[in-house]
Amino acid sequence: MSNNDITLVLGASGKTGRRIAARLRVRGIPVRAASRSSPTPFDWSDPGGWDAALRDVAAVYVVAPSVPGPVHEFVARAESAGVRRLVLLSGRGADTWGDSTFGLDVRSAEDAVRRSALEWTVLRPSNFAQNFDEGLSHAPLVAGELALPADTVPEPFIDIEDVADAAAAVLTEPGRHAGRIYELTGPRALTFGEAVELISRASGRPLTYRRISPDEYVGTLVAEGLGEGDARHVADLFVLMERGLLAATTDDLATVLGRAPRTFEEYVVRAAAAGAWRR
Ligand SMILES: NC(=O)c1ccc[n+]([C@@H]2O[C@H](COP(=O)([O-])OP(=O)(O)OC[C@H]3O[C@@H](n4cnc5c(N)ncnc54)[C@H](OP(=O)(O)O)[C@@H]3O)[C@@H](O)[C@H]2O)c1
Repeated sequence: MSNNDITLVLGASGKTGRRIAARLRVRGIPVRAASRSSPTPFDWSDPGGWDAALRDVAAVYVVAPSVPGPVHEFVARAESAGVRRLVLLSGRGADTWGDSTFGLDVRSAEDAVRRSALEWTVLRPSNFAQNFDEGLSHAPLVAGELALPADTVPEPFIDIEDVADAAAAVLTEPGRHAGRIYELTGPRALTFGEAVELISRASGRPLTYRRISPDEYVGTLVAEGLGEGDARHVADLFVLMERGLLAATTDDLATVLGRAPRTFEEYVVRAAAAGAWRR
């Protein structure tokens, strides 16, 4: 077993990973930032590099690969390397997705982590607020209109800063979160139309929202350059959300952090002030 205390952050160049790495570093925790383009090279399709990334590691933050499978072997390697704690980023209500083909990759990763003998915790956040300024919805908003296959079912958007705060807490509080699955949401649910209305107000721009069908959305995403399979994957999430099972808020973020989640209004004010939706 290793006596070292490095935290390996996978997906370290991504939206959650880079925020988590920064939080750990300011606390003085040794961080190994890993992904295909990060200082420590890590590729889910190249297990040959995994052992070097896992050396002297106490805890790992895992962002699942986009295909089901590799996390099982990764967990076995982590156990052999003396890792003590795993924290997996999953998605809201992953055990309610049922027969949907959405998230087979994430469900496989959950299965691997939850079967492991290590101390594990699963984080299942709702849709990130930052999808509106760092994700697929950003470019359409800058152009003036967002069109999605979502209508009246509200979504309890969570601020990624809260996801990162929760992950940093779980990674640094041994024992307290072992075997826990946290469903992380914002403090209230709002429709995509209401979200765009708030973004429009905060940015001072006339932005519109329009509901389209899942097939139309796939067409839009493919036209924007996404592969057909990835586009279908994203549209399937909206079909799942329309079932209404992911719409309620939870108290899990307060359970982890002892405070309420950030509001969507706080997010739009911050992002608008930073010029996120400027034309
Ligand atoms: N967006 C949402 O609303 C939402 C909500 C709940 C859960 N989630 C979950 O969040 C996850 C994405 O997390 P995120 O937003 O933090 O990441 P992200 O911004 O989508 O970035 C993906 C990260 O994974 C790395 N990566 C991509 N392919 C890789 C490969 N083959 N091997 C190793 N690393 C690879 C990328 O870095 P390199 O390119 O450098 O390799 C990057 O650091 C997904 O599993 C999604 O299901 C998202």
